[in-house]
Amino acid sequence: MKILLVDGTVFGTKTGAVLRQVEQYIQEYDRSLQLEILYFSKLKHQILDGSPLNEDMQMMIQKIEDADGYIFATPIYQASIPGVLKNALDMISPKALRYKPASIVATGGTYQHHLVVENQFKPILDYFRCLVTPNYVYTHSSHFDKNDEIIDEDIQNRLRELARVFVQYCKLSQTLPKQPVDNH
Ligand SMILES: Cc1cc2nc3c(=O)[nH]c(=O)nc-3n(C[C@H](O)[C@H](O)[C@H](O)COP(=O)(O)O)c2cc1C
Repeated sequence: MKILLVDGTVFGTKTGAVLRQVEQYIQEYDRSLQLEILYFSKLKHQILDGSPLNEDMQMMIQKIEDADGYIFATPIYQASIPGVLKNALDMISPKALRYKPASIVATGGTYQHHLVVENQFKPILDYFRCLVTPNYVYTHSSHFDKNDEIIDEDIQNRLRELARVFVQYCKLSQTLPKQPVDNH
């Protein structure tokens, strides 16, 4: 299975650091999964306004639609997910993520915004009918040292557990035909 790890940040480095840690834990649980990180900071983003899409956006759509599972990593912007991440998801066919496993990790500057994942990001992935794991991990600046190493043991344990459950959801996904049986 091809697993795409999406780093939804366009400025900083913490979100990518969490994603690379999850990548390592997933590999420890299942070496057969093909893992690839897609860094949004490396793409020339384009607003979805009806104009023809540039090469980076076409490549991004292809990678997302072709993947068999996802780890989505997002910073919190203005008490929500970044516009660039929502904009990217708006470009994806609503049927392309159906019954594919997905986990969410997030980084924020305040402790108060952890429910952004629960209340705003999860419903979008539910709309796509992803198999969203019940585990998600919210990290805060205090969980990192100055080199963006994750120094909080509880966060490490929760990321490891997220990886463990995600790998099981990958197995579940393989048993489910992806062809829609309805028009919705
Ligand atoms: C435009 C912008 C808006 C932000 N808004 C919030 C916010 O509403 N709540 C919050 O907890 N952190 C907010 N932050 C802080 C980031 O979520 C936090 O610094 C995060 O770790 C950034 O991840 P990164 O290092 O991967 O870019 C904001 C940062 C930026 C740049």
